[in-house]
Amino acid sequence: MTTTLLDQIGMLVTNDPHGKAPSSGRDEWALGILTDAAIVLEDRRVAWIGPARAAPAADERHDCAGAAVIPGFVDSHAHLVFAGDRSGEFAARMAGQAYSAGGIRSTVAATRTATDEELRAGVRGLVAELLGSGTTTFEIKSGYGLTVEQESRACRIAAEFTDEVTFLGAHVVPEEFHADRTGYLDLVTGPMLEACAPPARWIDVFCERGAFDADEARAVLEAGARVGLGTRVHANQLGPGPGVALAVEMGAASADHCTHLTDTDVDVLAGSGTVATLLPGAEFSTRSPYPDARRLLDAGVSVALATDCNPGTSFTTSMPWCIAMAVREMHMTVAEALRAATRGGARALRRDDLGRIAVGGPADLVVLASPSYVHLAYRPGVDLVSGVWRAGHRVTSVAAGLGPAAGGRSHG
Ligand code: NIG
Ligand code: FE
Repeated sequence: MTTTLLDQIGMLVTNDPHGKAPSSGRDEWALGILTDAAIVLEDRRVAWIGPARAAPAADERHDCAGAAVIPGFVDSHAHLVFAGDRSGEFAARMAGQAYSAGGIRSTVAATRTATDEELRAGVRGLVAELLGSGTTTFEIKSGYGLTVEQESRACRIAAEFTDEVTFLGAHVVPEEFHADRTGYLDLVTGPMLEACAPPARWIDVFCERGAFDADEARAVLEAGARVGLGTRVHANQLGPGPGVALAVEMGAASADHCTHLTDTDVDVLAGSGTVATLLPGAEFSTRSPYPDARRLLDAGVSVALATDCNPGTSFTTSMPWCIAMAVREMHMTVAEALRAATRGGARALRRDDLGRIAVGGPADLVVLASPSYVHLAYRPGVDLVSGVWRAGHRVTSVAAGLGPAAGGRSHG
């Protein structure tokens, strides 16, 4: 078994805080920072963490030269299985046009005519971007097929790349069911669910005006839960609505977007095990007001940051960029944003093993080209990822081409 020593780490963010929380600086304390540290990786796991001066020998040594090391990002919300391009729609929005959920249907049309290999190549490219920008775990949703065959092939292709597959047949009602919503819901909760459940771990629903109302969304989530899928909800993105309350009522792992919240929404989230997943890329690309992250954090809500990578509303794979946006536009501290992009994402996927660097835990980590994690927001738009280790293996850079390293892996 090969061992690898990451030596001379100037600042190691473990997300594993020790001792009592201080009265001020709690957000940075939560990062569990060690200075002048070293880590040994053995096989897929972290085998040792300690001061650099006490580092044991290993088969391979990587000198971090004083740079910061952070846990790999956990992107808990991404729509990667699609074909086509909606840059025209983006440009029109930037020229003043409004976004509506209906844009999804144009991607559905393009996706349906793509071959499996075309879809797979698209996912492969986006996964290469994710890994190259430091994301070591990512969720992938279906939702651009909207027939039994198309949704099940999207879930199958997604499962080639990740264990965190989400069935999103309830994205919108497709055109051919325009006059028969009930017929589409019967399909989603019946044959489509049956075909998609085996490769999936989660079920999601777009609970929004123009997509699905509360009763429809509840029926979708209940059907998924009955066959053992965990639940998540696209909630309160385009306006106030019942999505967040429904997510909490259903014990969903996360309510995603949370852009338009009432005080009651914030209260129910705070008292729940549901994570509020914030997706600044969507507000950026639809020129919408950002969610009020401060209000959520101050109320004690568990918050995650994710890319929402999709061709319509957020065509980015960059978690560092999301962190910079969350800090500048959503008033999160840099420490809060980093934690939301790592531990927060892990919580949103109910994966307690992820989003931290701990002995015995998975060797998923990022070496930055900077002395501190703060540079992720302080130097926006600059590629600060100098090395990524996933399950103990070094992932090469996007420029070098990631190839098969982008493959899925099993839990544990
Ligand atoms: O998360 N909100 C629903 N789904 C995507 C948008 C999909 C699209 O416009 O293609 C989102 O923003
Ligand atoms: Fe989304």
